[in-house]
Amino acid sequence: MSRPSPLAKPTTILLTGGTSGIGAVLLSRLLDRGHTVLALSRGAVHLPARAGLVPVGADLTDLPELPGLVAGLLADHPALSVVINNAAVQHALELTASTPAQLIEEAALNLTAPALIVQAALPHLMRQPQGAVVNLSSGLATFPKQAGGLYSATKAGLSSLTTSLRWQVEGTPLLVSEVVLPLVDTPMTAGRGARKLTAERAAEAILRGLDARRPVIRVGAARALPLIAALAPWLGRRMLRGG
Ligand SMILES: NC(=O)c1ccc[n+]([C@@H]2O[C@H](COP(=O)([O-])OP(=O)(O)OC[C@H]3O[C@@H](n4cnc5c(N)ncnc54)[C@H](OP(=O)(O)O)[C@@H]3O)[C@@H](O)[C@H]2O)c1
Repeated sequence: MSRPSPLAKPTTILLTGGTSGIGAVLLSRLLDRGHTVLALSRGAVHLPARAGLVPVGADLTDLPELPGLVAGLLADHPALSVVINNAAVQHALELTASTPAQLIEEAALNLTAPALIVQAALPHLMRQPQGAVVNLSSGLATFPKQAGGLYSATKAGLSSLTTSLRWQVEGTPLLVSEVVLPLVDTPMTAGRGARKLTAERAAEAILRGLDARRPVIRVGAARALPLIAALAPWLGRRMLRGG
């Protein structure tokens, strides 16, 4: 018998970056569905109060603090069964034009923070009957963007990390999902790109994918990428090079 969705029953979810873009819509939809959501980001404490919302004000680039932070959240919220690593930053700069501080922030937030959060939560999540880890990746993990070299590399790294983690927990009930997104209309992409997916449609596709327990949730135009990668990788490189 197939397992139910990790979101089938009201549960407790740790969501990073619920203050903006796709994360803000995910937060709203998860609260609508009756879940308790620990919304973790720097500005989370300014979110308007809602039933089920637990704001956790923290900067995910404070890497040494993360294991202790997650341990504290698990102690206070033992029903936590789903972690969604959504927070990220993209510096729309050529690699050589980025400041060292921007590169350090981008790598820490997009790649090292999710790894540390998952490491700290994994033993707990593996004891849950319907646990899940959900990592938000990008089509740029497959074909990088010229002006977003480190961003693309962090998403390729997160994609790789997600596959490794899925192999590590094989045979357990833990669902490990990678979300592969196309260009979505959020503050991250303000002022660039055309024909962007709305954050609402992106978030709804993610939730449908989790309900179906998909290990890889490809959203919108990102669904074509495996075929393009197999048949015409030069075309994929040309399409995504501009971002
Ligand atoms: N938009 C796209 O086209 C697109 C495409 C592919 C993949 N994605 C992925 O989808 C996810 C969401 O992207 P988005 O476009 O919705 O982004 P966004 O609107 O820019 O939101 C980013 C979120 O990250 C949080 N954040 C930033 N720095 C942080 C820090 N130091 N510590 C804690 N939280 C921090 C922000 O919260 P605070 O400011 O409150 O800290 C905010 O809630 C990301 O993983 C992104 O890579 C997006």
